[in-house]
Amino acid sequence: MHIVIIAATAALGGLLFGYDTGVISAALLFLRTAFHLSTLMVGIVTSIALAGAAGGAGVAGRLADHFGRRPTLLWTAAVFLAGAVVSACAVDLPMLLVGRVLVGIGIGGASMLTPLYLAEIAPAKTRGALVSCNQLAVTLGILLSYLVGYALAASGSWRWMLGLSAVPGALLALGMYLLPETPRWLAGHGHTDLARASLRKLRGADVDIDAEVAELRADLKSDRQTAQHEAPSKKERLAQRLPLIVGVGLAIFQQVTGINTVIYFAPMIFQAAGLSSASAAILATAGIGVVNVLMTVVAIRLVDRVGRRVLLLWGVGGMGVSLSLLACVFLFGKGPILSWLTAASLTAYIGFFAIGLGPVFWLLLSEIFPLAIRARGMSAATIANWLANLAVALSFLNLTALLGRPGVFFIFAALSFAALLFAYRLIPETMGLSLEAVDALWRRREGLTPPANQER
Ligand code: GLC
Repeated sequence: MHIVIIAATAALGGLLFGYDTGVISAALLFLRTAFHLSTLMVGIVTSIALAGAAGGAGVAGRLADHFGRRPTLLWTAAVFLAGAVVSACAVDLPMLLVGRVLVGIGIGGASMLTPLYLAEIAPAKTRGALVSCNQLAVTLGILLSYLVGYALAASGSWRWMLGLSAVPGALLALGMYLLPETPRWLAGHGHTDLARASLRKLRGADVDIDAEVAELRADLKSDRQTAQHEAPSKKERLAQRLPLIVGVGLAIFQQVTGINTVIYFAPMIFQAAGLSSASAAILATAGIGVVNVLMTVVAIRLVDRVGRRVLLLWGVGGMGVSLSLLACVFLFGKGPILSWLTAASLTAYIGFFAIGLGPVFWLLLSEIFPLAIRARGMSAATIANWLANLAVALSFLNLTALLGRPGVFFIFAALSFAALLFAYRLIPETMGLSLEAVDALWRRREGLTPPANQER
């Protein structure tokens, strides 16, 4: 099976993630009247899915370690499908909430499992691009949700808006039924022959897979050696903890620099900047969605050539500058120039996010953990990502009321510069390294000698 088809199928998880986080703002306009929702309930309907996502990410890691990446992704797709159907058919508020929680669990599971699966099936030299296809799918899902929201707004068909995600949900379930388990998980669970067969299926009949098989074996051996150390030394513990600090830190920075206030509330921001008609604001928002997609494509083309660090550092630096500009525009700008400058700085901000922190965070997350703790480490960081997302979503409107828009955007700008410093100090370059060699890299940082056969 061609690896691109495999990647595209698995990345349906990303599409669902993007579509479902994006579509709710349009659907809410109608849910509000259909279910007589108070402002508090509107907040709950939105955020309950984010909380569900944190829960889903928590469970998915353990399941993926125990049962395998493939079946866990398959179950995630089924939960997703159930969530889409329940919310689309909701006849009362409790049913709607149950649907939202299920969708949330699906999103949370998919958000960590998809990059994990992609990283474990990818060859080292194209891993960056393949894993980043997930983020491309997320951005396409968001754009699709804007377009569907726009198209269905006139008829108010919120049931269709919520129910449509059943289609990619079903496709993902079918796809995962057909796709192979990852060679790394198989090898890690003692199924060496199956691991070989999976690699053969992934790479094709005419490719030499011996080197990769040898690498998997070496990885396993070092994991066993680590497990046999009953009391790991202090340095050893630090070498295990560092990827966790990097993963969770970056997860939080990805959200507290404000991306989803733009993704979820862009039309409102544009209206505040003077784009008075709703359709102009929605159109400008669609523009933001397109830039998000296009710049992610640029990131995919660059990530295995210039590396993760360069994209990340330029990306967060650029976000800081564009956010400062946005804050100044809101502080000093007046009249038509305000709308133009707002659009320009928001577009620049999204572009810088899409080339760096957006895809690179999910990519690094799939690369920085040693196999022994990979799924659990990714779970922890993904939970942090969703909880930070929830915290920002819940506080954004209140903070804006309290500090004004310039204040909030200055805070996001300051946090972007903090992210720059964090990334500069702590993030290693993982481009071109096998996942096994990344493990060795952390150990070297702490002055621990890596097992000889893990070097590249
Ligand atoms: C990343 C973020 C997600 C955000 C999206 C926007 O995937 O994790 O929260 O909505 O990028 O493109």
